Amino acid sequence: MAVRYELIKTCKQSGARLGRLHTPHGTIETPVFMPVGTLATVKTMSPEELKEMNAQIILSNTYHLYLRPGEDIVREAGGLHAFMNWDRPILTDSGGFQVFSLSKLRHIEEEGVHFRNHISGEKLFISPEKATQIQNDLGADIIMAFDECAPYPADRDYVKASLERTTRWAERCLKAHQRPHDQALFGIVQGGMYPDLRAQSVKEITSLGFPGYAVGGLSVGEPKEVMNQILEETTPLLPADKPRYLMGVGSPDALIDGVIRGIDMFDCVLPTRIARNGTTMTSQGRLVVRNAQYARDFRPLDPECDCYTCRNYTRAYIRHLIKCNETFGFRLTTYHNLYFLLRLMENIKEAIRNDSLLDFREQFFEKYGFNRP
Ligand code: GUN
Ligand code: ZN
Repeated sequence: MAVRYELIKTCKQSGARLGRLHTPHGTIETPVFMPVGTLATVKTMSPEELKEMNAQIILSNTYHLYLRPGEDIVREAGGLHAFMNWDRPILTDSGGFQVFSLSKLRHIEEEGVHFRNHISGEKLFISPEKATQIQNDLGADIIMAFDECAPYPADRDYVKASLERTTRWAERCLKAHQRPHDQALFGIVQGGMYPDLRAQSVKEITSLGFPGYAVGGLSVGEPKEVMNQILEETTPLLPADKPRYLMGVGSPDALIDGVIRGIDMFDCVLPTRIARNGTTMTSQGRLVVRNAQYARDFRPLDPECDCYTCRNYTRAYIRHLIKCNETFGFRLTTYHNLYFLLRLMENIKEAIRNDSLLDFREQFFEKYGFNRP
């Protein structure tokens, strides 16, 4: 068994779960936020910095690493951990979602997806077997089934056909998986915004017996109330003794609301992506440090934050760097945003231990406000 999930306790006030996920590269305390390192690097951060801020696991992408540098090169390097000098756990997404969101001219068939390399234009094909082989070569601790994420909105017939194909593809991924002893293959639940189709997908995917389950196809443009409603009706159907991963979600409000609905794992490009255009997350809500109002503001980004950035640099300085496109500015905002979300998760875990996550939610939103992200 490549991973083992241990449920430690359930918050009496909210039902949220505190757990441990044991992997070949160490134990992860859940709920956990996974910083995204698409191309085998969390943009602008070194592995040492990620460890300093207590990142426990990072996510990387099959689709991108298949295009560049190619999974054969990563395998020859000794796998993703050795290639990028990160000795903690790694999860790779299967490429299903990225093929749909990044490549134009894609064509889905039962066999797999034909698409064009979004950089060179070259014709390519990924099937469930190919996605699994690439992920076996990359060597992450947790790998994902190759799925189809339906767009939003999508009509019921389309979503039903797509979730049923996702089940058949999941079965093919399981058959193709060559490293079940040291890589855990997670199944992905689809079903769009239709509760009964979500239930059908859970039934089909869990019957295949994966060591963990992801909820996919959310945060695709639907209102957040819809996402919360779907989660509320979906997570209780998942086996309690396996980890649950909500894919592509990472705004502070959605993390809290997801944990309350029984989610254990999250990933999102949000903190790192917005950092590079000068937007930061603070205990008082979003702060766009590139705005003119901060030109002479000599306070830290977040006076309540004790990260490297906030202990040493002012809003005025960071704004200056970002306005001038200086790399160091992007590093400072990225460090702070990741630290902010990782610390938020620490506070969430503490609230679960104290059976007070709903109280924590109230206090958090009172200060943070409801402005997204
Ligand atoms: N990332 C965000 N959403 C999804 C999804 O539905 N499927 C996959 N594979 N990755 C995702
Ligand atoms: Zn900070």
